[in-house]
Amino acid sequence: MKTLTIEQLQANYERLLELINKTFSGDRRDKLLKLYEDFADRLIDAPASGKEHYHYAIPGGYILHILHVVEFSEKIHNIWKESGAYSDNYTLEELLFAALHHDFGKLGDDKNPYYIPNESEWHRINQGSIYDFCKDLEFMDVPLRSIYILQKYGITISSTEMLGIMLSDGLYDDSNKSYLITFRKENKPKTNVPYIIHQADFMACQIENNEWQHRTGIFAEIDENGQEEKPKNKGTKKDKSMLKKDEPQLSKKQKDIASVFSNAGKESQISEDLFKDLFKTIKND
Ligand SMILES: [Fe+2]
Repeated sequence: MKTLTIEQLQANYERLLELINKTFSGDRRDKLLKLYEDFADRLIDAPASGKEHYHYAIPGGYILHILHVVEFSEKIHNIWKESGAYSDNYTLEELLFAALHHDFGKLGDDKNPYYIPNESEWHRINQGSIYDFCKDLEFMDVPLRSIYILQKYGITISSTEMLGIMLSDGLYDDSNKSYLITFRKENKPKTNVPYIIHQADFMACQIENNEWQHRTGIFAEIDENGQEEKPKNKGTKKDKSMLKKDEPQLSKKQKDIASVFSNAGKESQISEDLFKDLFKTIKND
C-alpha cells in the first residue's frame, strides 16, 4: 500500500493551497484560505475512504484524491467541449470549486472528524476497515456536510457549484435520482457540471483502486542503492509490470508500515505496534 512521508503530506497540502490561490480571488479566496487553515491538521492526514479496497484509505489519501478529481474534471471538461458539449453556461471556477469541495464533508465538521483510526484489529485484517466513523459526528450525507461547512465559513456558492457537489456520486446515491432520472425536461440539471464531476470522481476512484490492487501482495523492496529488489511475495508477471518505476524510496519504518497495509492478514506483532504508533500520532494531532 502506498505510504506518504511527512514531507510528501505537507507538499500535497501546499499544492492544494496553491490551487485555491490560483483559482479564486477576493473575499471568497480569503474565506477559503481561512477554512483550509482551520482544517489543516485534518486535511493533511485524512484518508479518501475508510476501507483499503475502496480508494486511498491511507493518511493523506483525501488530498491525493481531490487533486485527481480537480485534474480529471478539467480534462473531462475539455474532452466534452471539444466533442460538442455545451459548456458556455458555467465557468471553470465553478467546475473546480465543485471538484475541490465534493468530498469536503469527509473531513467532518468543526467539532468532530468523519474518519477515525479503527482500533479493531479484526476489522482491519478481515474487512480492510482501516478507519471507522466518528460516532459523535452529526449524521449527514457527505455532500451535504460539505455545503454545511462552506456556509459556516460564509462562503457563498452558485447553484451550479451546489449541484456539482450534491450530485457527485451520480446514481450511486439513490437520493440523486430525482435530479438525474426525471421525466420533466425543466428538472434536468441545466449545466453539465454534475455529470463531469461525477465522471471525474468515478475515474479517480477507479484509478486509485487499481493502484491498490496492483500493489497488494507485490510491494517491491528498495535496496540500499535505491534499486527495486525482486518482490518476495507472489505476483503475476502482469502485476509486476504495473509497478511504477518512480516509487518513492522508503525508510525501514515506512516499509514496515506499508507491509501492514498490504499484508494485513500476515502482520507481525512488530508491525502491528508500528501501525498503532502511526495512528496514535494521528489521533493526538
Ligand atoms: Fe470523491
